[in-house]
Amino acid sequence: MENTHCHIVVLISGNGSNLQALIDASGASKFKVVAVVSNNPEAFGLQRATAADIPTRVVDHGDYSLRQDYDRKLIEVIEDFDPKLIVLAGFMRILSPVFVQHYQGRILNIHPSLLPAYTGVNTHQRVLDAEEKEHGVSVHFVTEELDGGPVIAQEKIDVLATDTAAQLATRVAAKEHIIYPKVVSWFAAGRLHMEADGAYLDHEKLPVSGVKRQMA
Ligand code: GAR
Repeated sequence: MENTHCHIVVLISGNGSNLQALIDASGASKFKVVAVVSNNPEAFGLQRATAADIPTRVVDHGDYSLRQDYDRKLIEVIEDFDPKLIVLAGFMRILSPVFVQHYQGRILNIHPSLLPAYTGVNTHQRVLDAEEKEHGVSVHFVTEELDGGPVIAQEKIDVLATDTAAQLATRVAAKEHIIYPKVVSWFAAGRLHMEADGAYLDHEKLPVSGVKRQMA
């Protein structure tokens, strides 16, 4: 039973609420979080992992002056756990081609915007500044292009006239915690993969904005 589960390593930098959603969902899913790795020794998500008896590792980016050296160390640490999938959950570092090529088609990321809009940081405030009516979250495969790999799923929220960035973050996070475990479980069940021309679910190529049905 145990060895039929897809082993995943989750990379975090902070709070780890998405990590928690993955841990909570893993009991009833075909994936298992076998390790949590952080670039930040203070990340609260490390405590969440420990509370769930999941091994943790810290690879502090402050100890490395070259991004490639950091990423090579990251690979070395991750390889100890021999995961099938790498799940970025609020991991706030740009990954070099060394890392992305090593795990080609096996890295997922969650990003708080309706990609390709608002790549990068501070998405909630930027959405407010631009007076957008809609905002949301995307889960995508990671490629060498920052926040640019094929989208697997998106969920939208309405932006209200009274919204603050913190309120948007809260509503987006609620969607994230539903959508991410679902996408990871598709990968774990062998239903999801990436090819050169995009993401595929159940052998069907996904549209640029990911699966059509609403999940959260
Ligand atoms: C999440 O909102 C996630 O989408 C975002 O960081 C937050 C992490 O929250 N990721 C990015 O911005 C990646 N570019 P968490 O630590 O509570 O899961």
